[in-house]
Amino acid sequence: MTQPLRPRRLRADGIRSLVSETTVAPSDLVAPVFIDATTDQRQPIESMPGHERVPIADAVPRVEEVLETGVEAVIVFGIPQEKDARGTRAWATDGVVQQAVRAIREETDAYVITDVCLCEYTDHGHCGLLENEGSAEHPDNQGHEGPGLTIDNDRTLELLEKISVSHADAGAHMVAPSGMVDGMVEAIRSALDSADYENVPIMTYAAKYESDFYGPFRDAADGAPSFGDRRHYQMDPANAREARYEVSLDVEQGADILMVKPALPYLDIIATVEAEFDRPVAAYNVSGEYAMLHAAAEKGWLDLEATAYESILSIKRAGADLIITYFAEDIARKL
Ligand code: PBG
Repeated sequence: MTQPLRPRRLRADGIRSLVSETTVAPSDLVAPVFIDATTDQRQPIESMPGHERVPIADAVPRVEEVLETGVEAVIVFGIPQEKDARGTRAWATDGVVQQAVRAIREETDAYVITDVCLCEYTDHGHCGLLENEGSAEHPDNQGHEGPGLTIDNDRTLELLEKISVSHADAGAHMVAPSGMVDGMVEAIRSALDSADYENVPIMTYAAKYESDFYGPFRDAADGAPSFGDRRHYQMDPANAREARYEVSLDVEQGADILMVKPALPYLDIIATVEAEFDRPVAAYNVSGEYAMLHAAAEKGWLDLEATAYESILSIKRAGADLIITYFAEDIARKL
């Protein structure tokens, strides 16, 4: 009998790490932080154990906590004091993100990324201007998920430009538009360039799916649509070819980093983007991916630390260069 080929030889202690193909370092990770203008005390986010919305005054201490773990980058989300139909607080000089970023840049060495979107700032919770400019109360917008809900794509672009420039004015190192608005990268690039921010990179949420894994985030950032859903602007989870098209458009428009979101259910998309486009790939390990491991661990069904690490390792193995994850601090602390 011939001997079998024996891949097990390389799994022995001592050799395993020498042949390991993938590593995770704190410098690969980006920690999301939530700044809340409606509170003066930290508010735990129930569906995301260990995460809090912090008041503007705590933005710096919150980021210092992140830096202590070895994670060097944060992505800042804001919960504004007020919402309206146009989301005007999203580009206010004294807006929640603008104030927080200014303080973080002044007092820490963190690399600061901002999420550029309208859904946390509009009273209807959608990621753009509604066509009739109405709010949730407008009769055209009652109970619709179809014809009544039309986002005015091109007028939304102007708002994204203002938001991006206001974030850069506050000191954001990088902006990350997440609204899946057609043409957003080109619009933001030219707005940044005209404001002399040609060195501020754009990390585009290039392939962002209409995913139910965002559920806990919508509690965290108070950004759930008040009616309808996001299926007319975020991508259909059934589609992979369309992701290549979306990503290619963002590359043409000058995107610096290409993001796929969510991460674990979309590892095939991460691998495709990595293989087909010559730009760094980011993956967003979203709130639902975090919450489900916590929930299972609470029941004693999974080991939280081990499954969190395995998740992040797998996302890197699939092709991500950087990962936005609510596990960032926990993992970095262990590395
Ligand atoms: C939109 C935005 C969302 C997330 C990040 N940016 C929510 C959405 O599209 O509904 C989700 C992140 C997560 O689930 O962790 N501004």
